[in-house]
Amino acid sequence: MTKIVSHRGANNFAPENTFAAADLAIEQGADYIELDVRESADGVLYVLHDETLDRTTNGHGPIGHTLARDIDALDAGSWFDTKFAGAVVPRLDAYLEHLRGRAGVYLELKYCDPAKIVALVRDLGMVRDTFYFSFSEEMRRGLIVIAPEFRKMITLNIARSPSLVGAVHHASIIEMSVEQMRQPGVIEASRKAGLEVMVYYGGNDVAVHREIAEAGVDYVNLDRPDLFEPVRRAFRGVAA
Ligand code: G3P
Ligand code: CA
Repeated sequence: MTKIVSHRGANNFAPENTFAAADLAIEQGADYIELDVRESADGVLYVLHDETLDRTTNGHGPIGHTLARDIDALDAGSWFDTKFAGAVVPRLDAYLEHLRGRAGVYLELKYCDPAKIVALVRDLGMVRDTFYFSFSEEMRRGLIVIAPEFRKMITLNIARSPSLVGAVHHASIIEMSVEQMRQPGVIEASRKAGLEVMVYYGGNDVAVHREIAEAGVDYVNLDRPDLFEPVRRAFRGVAA
């Protein structure tokens, strides 16, 4: 059955990348929580999408110019809804501990020290429960060198061919769009290359969710676990 990767948690119902968003996603059926990692001025790892604090907190300016003690005092919930007032910007260590044993984690390294992530995940014993990606080649290179055993994902757009995912990018998971999934031969070639397949879909069209479930891919990276969960169960019922 296709595993649900919840992009920034249940971000349609709770502020993205917060404990509340992760908890709700798990309640809605998520198997993995996707998150974004950035570093404070004094080197503490946080779960935050943007380079600046402005959109998703009551703070201002780049997270990388801000001390951890000031980030810890921010409100990361009120911008979304006053009922989430007081939600914190999660520290990565606390967030991973919160998820350990409850869900897998897809860590996207926005910009941070890969060595710190590797040490933390090894310490927490979460290597097998996690996989990794970055749009930054520096981050990806760091992980390849420091953590050959970590499971890595690469997008078809970056790899350009399923055949290059392992050889060039040292990855075992390929992510593609719905349009790419529909291209004849792409899934077949990914399977032949021994890859796991993840489809990214940010929409809420149930017909597309059904198409993804029917394609039998390993993971779907999405914003609506609540919509995909019943679709995959119904499909399993039909397929059984
Ligand atoms: O797998 C790609 C996905 O994680 C993209 O995330 O941060 O660009 O919304 P983002
Ligand atoms: Ca991301």
